[in-house]
Amino acid sequence: EPEVIRDKAAMRAWSRRRRAEGKTVAVVPTMGYLHDGHLSLISTAAAADNPVAIVVTIYVNPSQFAPSEDLATYPSDFAGDLRKLASTGVVDAVFNPVDLYHRGTRRLAVASGGGAVSCLEEDGDGHETWVRVERLEKGLCGDSRPVFFRGVATIVSKLFNIIEPDVAVFGKKDYQQWRLICRMVRDLDFAIEIIGSEIVREADGLAMSSRNVHLSREEREKALSISRSLVDARTAALKGNTDCTQIKNKIVQTVTETGGEVDYVEIVEQESLAPVEKIDVPVVICVAAWFGKVRLIDNIEIDAR
Ligand code: PAJ
Repeated sequence: EPEVIRDKAAMRAWSRRRRAEGKTVAVVPTMGYLHDGHLSLISTAAAADNPVAIVVTIYVNPSQFAPSEDLATYPSDFAGDLRKLASTGVVDAVFNPVDLYHRGTRRLAVASGGGAVSCLEEDGDGHETWVRVERLEKGLCGDSRPVFFRGVATIVSKLFNIIEPDVAVFGKKDYQQWRLICRMVRDLDFAIEIIGSEIVREADGLAMSSRNVHLSREEREKALSISRSLVDARTAALKGNTDCTQIKNKIVQTVTETGGEVDYVEIVEQESLAPVEKIDVPVVICVAAWFGKVRLIDNIEIDAR
């Protein structure tokens, strides 16, 4: 049974005790409603340096949601999450704080020109320090979710400062998030090794996501067009069709025809996430599309050299 910790000071003390015992502390940050994708990150953490103490964080971070987004309907099942974590047999602690921000007045929302930009500011709070990864937070998901990566970089920094881990594991499912955290850790000299863990899919190819629970049966079937078109694109690229405009158009067409509303399809270099025109460097094709009220993302890495 993992130990459930809700308090920042207790979390830091727990972590420092583990390190004093000579253990490597690994953290897996999540927003809960855990699925096999999350659990695979835990296996990745367990395979890191031994002996390892593993902390899973469960916290739905309000600052990475815009007021128009799905914070209010984000799924949760803490009891179920705990059972899944216990069944892994390798998780030592679950950090599940009620709140991680210092709450204050509505002053900040007013001072920033009215119109709250994130759910944190709408609540009215005393928080005003943000971590921004200025180039990587733009493009891809950053274009339609302008406060998202600021919220992610800031909450991950807070978690790193509270837990002081040696290792942190992120999923490649959220490719831009993973690369942005790597960049932040490098630029700000966090002494933490970031590990990227492979995407876990359902048997039919759908990338696992906590949000999949909101898909109707029809929407879920249609959503398979994302992973299918990504696999087809990869096959085509490896056969020599390396023209990015053609590949992107094909994906947009396939997803649109099945009833999805494409947010973006981009082909970018794997580390810088800079757009490319021809697949002659290691690239990742990233897709975001809406099926009904659900926004899904997926991607595939291609190294055609
Ligand atoms: P969440 O969406 O809960 O995801 C937590 C971690 O699980 C992320 O690193 C994500 O990339 C990974 N993950 C989700 N689905 C996956 C899949 N199918 N295969 C592999 N990994 C998968 O991402 C967040 O939470 C938040 O933004 C967070 C980093 C916790 C900051 O609030």
